[in-house]
Amino acid sequence: MTDFTPRVFSGIKPSGGLTLGNYLGAIKRWVDMQGQMESIYCVVDLHAVTVWQDPAALKTGTREIAAGMLASGIDPATSVLFNQSQVHQHAELSWVFNCVARVGWMDRMTQFKDKAGSNAQKVSLGLYAYPSLMAADILLYHATHVPVGEDQKQHVELTRDIAAKFNHDFKTDFFPMTEPVIDGPATRVMNLRDGSKKMSKSGESDMERINMLDDADTIAKKFKKAKTDPAPLPETLEGLKDRPEARNLVDIYAALSDQTSEAVIAEYAGAGWGRFKPALADLAVDKLAPISTEMRRLLDDPAEIDRLLGEGAEKARAIAAPILDRTYDIVGFLRS
Ligand code: TRP
Repeated sequence: MTDFTPRVFSGIKPSGGLTLGNYLGAIKRWVDMQGQMESIYCVVDLHAVTVWQDPAALKTGTREIAAGMLASGIDPATSVLFNQSQVHQHAELSWVFNCVARVGWMDRMTQFKDKAGSNAQKVSLGLYAYPSLMAADILLYHATHVPVGEDQKQHVELTRDIAAKFNHDFKTDFFPMTEPVIDGPATRVMNLRDGSKKMSKSGESDMERINMLDDADTIAKKFKKAKTDPAPLPETLEGLKDRPEARNLVDIYAALSDQTSEAVIAEYAGAGWGRFKPALADLAVDKLAPISTEMRRLLDDPAEIDRLLGEGAEKARAIAAPILDRTYDIVGFLRS
């Protein structure tokens, strides 16, 4: 097996704005990783169009995700930060992978089943092929580590299956076996009104999510009105087993304060919501309001964001182009 240089790749889709789920499940952890390994972070706009996007809103959304990454501490001098569609190699490698992946593998993807629901005949072909594009995003850079939320684990496993089948079919060890990195207390941030659903940027009520552009008052209000149950906080995490809303708030508190959920429960054992919710609201405002202020400042100058993304895309292409060329050679495409 070839040795691969440790390299991180991850991405966020610009369909709608940025939420606390994106921040805690992804961006905050990317910031921690960028000093440890070469890191590539991407606004995955090609993924967004698997469902129809208003063109003007797609552009705004792309800038908003980029601004959120920058405001949270992704440093474009240390990490590569760009939007996917500016590096055409993603789409090209995904075609090769469409011819490696099997229909049966795609049929097992739970995210597709959830999204398509009973409508599976009417969704785009792109939505079905989405995991193969995600594999291309990762393998185009020979990324070894992919920090993502819990819901993306199956897609990273599929990426490994695609890499293994490619390597096997072409008798090579060209693509690495990528590891998903799923750690920290908030790999799955839930909806504030319904603890059985993921916090999503597209849910119908704005009260169910924290947007990274929310101001301090809105953040505090949403946490104070978050759905809970009447019982106080238990002594141990075990006691939160069947209390998804309560568990979610404890996990969010832990992630925002860089502690484990166990430590938070130890501190607040026996506390009622009248004590815990205001503490959570204060903590969240403290950590998130500076990010939203900085995002707003960055978004006032869209040309500067576009310039940074363009520079990042150039750096990304410098890594991606030789890997795609080599892939084409392995497959047997004639290059004159
Ligand atoms: N599918 C991911 C999500 O919905 C986004 C994504 C696309 C991604 N390509 C990626 C994440 C590559 C990590 C690596 O959240």
